[in-house]
Amino acid sequence: MDNKLFATRVQPAVPSRLAGLFPVMNYPDAIKFTAGAPAESLFPADAMAQAYADAMAAEGNHTFQYHTVQGPVELRERLAQRAMDKMQIDHVTADNVMLTAGGQQGIDLVAKALLNKGDGIVVEAPTYVGALSSFDTYEPTYYEVELEDDGLNTDQLEATLKQHPEIKLLYTVADFHNPGGVTMSLAERQKVVELANQYNLIILEDTPYRELRYTGQSLPSIKHFDTEGRVIFLSSFSKILMPTLRTGWLVADKAVIQQLYKLKEAADLEVPNITAQAINHYLADNSLDEHIARLNKEYKVRMQAMIDACRKYLPAGVSATKPEGGFFTWVTVNSAINTTDLLYNEATPNQHIAYVPSKNFYAYKDHTNGMRLNFTGLTPTEIDTGMKRLGTLLTQAEQII
Ligand SMILES: Cc1ncc(COP(=O)(O)O)c(C=O)c1O
Repeated sequence: MDNKLFATRVQPAVPSRLAGLFPVMNYPDAIKFTAGAPAESLFPADAMAQAYADAMAAEGNHTFQYHTVQGPVELRERLAQRAMDKMQIDHVTADNVMLTAGGQQGIDLVAKALLNKGDGIVVEAPTYVGALSSFDTYEPTYYEVELEDDGLNTDQLEATLKQHPEIKLLYTVADFHNPGGVTMSLAERQKVVELANQYNLIILEDTPYRELRYTGQSLPSIKHFDTEGRVIFLSSFSKILMPTLRTGWLVADKAVIQQLYKLKEAADLEVPNITAQAINHYLADNSLDEHIARLNKEYKVRMQAMIDACRKYLPAGVSATKPEGGFFTWVTVNSAINTTDLLYNEATPNQHIAYVPSKNFYAYKDHTNGMRLNFTGLTPTEIDTGMKRLGTLLTQAEQII
């Protein structure tokens, strides 16, 4: 086919941001810090199978019929309650809750609803690669704001907004950042809402890891501080239940959700009823909080193993963020080291370890001395062994530069 026939958003010469993120490595002693996947052994598989059976028993053949773009009101009511209880968002009703095909569709629909070609969007540097892959298709102008230990740099955000008051959207992962591992402080949460009010901005607060806190105190969501309907709060069942449910949910003003429903109908007509009903039954008959507590207990041990291993094995001059939850640690090495080259030339063939190199997490792919390490998919022993190898690798790399 003639490439000119493709729209600019899918030019064949431009590779997918998500393709090739995880290098193939078949060594028996391979240790992969790459995945962003939850631990399969912790899936509530039996309870979920029962929930699907209950959903089918309750509605018979009608379960499998077309239903609505909104999905079951009972599920949205439960999520509205959860938004008030756990996220500290006030006055949420079922009408403020929209079900999406994973958090990913929430990101995509919000971007589609707001961004015309060339419109300004602020993203953290680094940011979630899947969000970039979605945003790219709307051909925005990216403005990057540096991610620090307490979340994005709000001074830099303010300066950017002052210089480009036409910017429409801020995308942020405030809790246990992917890939940064850090959490936005209370003060910064308040500040971003103030700036959004001042500069007429929408904030997309993406929170798939929010309830996976292993140490420290939970903070109110950014949406908690929203008084003008500017914050869209987005969550997902992928990390706390199972990714295959492909179910996310967002909380926003009804006026925003109405526009998003138009786009969802155009994209996939409606929420898959069987899945939404199964989640509803799961939530009615099981304690999601107890399940999350089990996850947090296990993941805490893995996170601690990662923090200990970073201290033990990473050479001086290499820094690692210290997460309090979520899935990831972010490591920054000497700026003369290119972590993509290091991955393919040394880490995988010689040390049999893999990580995701930093360039993938930047809008302009121009930061080459960082790496994302996942700790939830490995045992503490694997983490220790793999990090020892990474320490050796980085010590050697520092000697060569
Ligand atoms: C920050 C962030 N947002 C959204 C998603 C999308 O997840 P899902 O579509 O499975 O809910 C992910 C998945 O890794 C993520 O890390």
